[in-house]
Amino acid sequence: MEKTQKKGTVKFFNGKQIPLEMHKVRIVQSLKLVPVERRLEAIGEAGYNSFLMGTKDIFLDMLTDSGTNAMSDEQLSKMFVADDAYAGSQSFVKFQKSVSHVFGKNLLLPVHQGRAAENIISQIFVRQGSVIPMNYHFTTTLAHIQLNGGRVVELFTPEAMKIKSAHPFKGNIDVVRLEELIKKTGTENIPFIRMEASTNLIGGQPFSMDNLKNVRRVADKYKLIIVLDASLIGENAFFIQKREQGYEERSIGFILKEMCDLCDMVYFSGRKVSSSRGGAICTNNIDLYNKMKDLVPLYEGFLTYGGISIREIEAMTVGLYETLDEDVVGQSPSFINYAANELDKLGIPVILPGGALGCHVDAKQFLAHIPQADYPAGALVAAFYIISGIRGMERGTMSSIRDEQGNDILADLELMRLAFPRRVFTLSQVEYLIDRLNWLFHNKELVGGIKFVEEPPVLRFFTGRLAPIGNWPEKLVAKFKADFGDSL
Ligand code: F0G
Repeated sequence: MEKTQKKGTVKFFNGKQIPLEMHKVRIVQSLKLVPVERRLEAIGEAGYNSFLMGTKDIFLDMLTDSGTNAMSDEQLSKMFVADDAYAGSQSFVKFQKSVSHVFGKNLLLPVHQGRAAENIISQIFVRQGSVIPMNYHFTTTLAHIQLNGGRVVELFTPEAMKIKSAHPFKGNIDVVRLEELIKKTGTENIPFIRMEASTNLIGGQPFSMDNLKNVRRVADKYKLIIVLDASLIGENAFFIQKREQGYEERSIGFILKEMCDLCDMVYFSGRKVSSSRGGAICTNNIDLYNKMKDLVPLYEGFLTYGGISIREIEAMTVGLYETLDEDVVGQSPSFINYAANELDKLGIPVILPGGALGCHVDAKQFLAHIPQADYPAGALVAAFYIISGIRGMERGTMSSIRDEQGNDILADLELMRLAFPRRVFTLSQVEYLIDRLNWLFHNKELVGGIKFVEEPPVLRFFTGRLAPIGNWPEKLVAKFKADFGDSL
């Protein structure tokens, strides 16, 4: 059944293809662009790790869209009518209704954020020797599965690793290899198949409905369950509507429901999916629900708040309904698409087609002179911050792990991610980004590698400290000043 009407798109008389904002800005936060000398100091103080920077030194914060999307007036207003209660809050009842309306799942376990859902799912279903097939891992997913003795097997298609491609669904899982893996591993060792919507680490690339239907067929054949990471599900649904034959006239609501109907368990980070905070696991299977439910009061909070503030539960509820609106879920992808295509025209290597979450620059090509062991993506993030004040995130070998011998496991893709939180940045800010990245591309030989000086054993990219190899940052700043004079 259709949930919402499909909307039309706006075309321009002059033929230009620029994204048009379907919202107006009514509350603003001022930004400061500190001078390049301060930016050089700031990245040094942060150990060349953008996670360790303070926002006072940042102009455009493109680290992530997690918890940084703009909220709507409806969301903010509902936060004031929150029914604060330790147990039995009526705000939670509203949340249940929204999850059931949007995802079609009636049993709901609230958690404080996405990785908390991963903790509970992994603790309950993953055992020593378990194998979890998936289209691609996410950092926190991998960490939780490994912590519980499991192993991740990624079954992406060759298209996923092509930086520039015309393939509309680079997030698809290879169903033939999936079936081979199941036969080889034995169903008793596979607690679930995981599908991630708008696959984060390979450039926010979606899977198709057809692919998910094929995974369902395999899962049914071998009596396996499918767990869907729905943190970026709105965008995946938007891409299905825009790119998959047979879905052009379907509403986002219809597509979302169909995706969730194909999966046994759905979990999400509310920080991404609904422009708020929080997260949840939902299902229609009472056995799955019962297995997990006791861990919610243990790790998160009582079953009707799960460690989320009740105000955020109200905001998440409204945010979920807003996910049905293609203007909302399409805003970030349309800006990303614009940026990616403009950068491509300048010869800058970016992931194409544009995906969800952010514009991804291929550091392997951009900084081809830096060996992967010297973290080119991390170096690119640092260099780009120095010359622009824009904070991106490393998604490459720095975000990877070491093998048992202590050697870096080189990442498949070496990316600088520039996140586009929903409805936060304007098109002129995007033009600034393109201009500065173009300048850096013309001066890329000035950038060198970086190395760890403090390296934590788990999720090292969050808090690890690094240093430049040589004095390339100073040389970069000197060239910037020579070219831009007293410009910030
Ligand atoms: N799954 C996916 C696909 C995610 O992108 C994230 C978070 C999580 C799970 C974990 O959710 O942060 O609420 O605990 N991604 C953020 C990012 C951190 O910046 O990509 P969380």
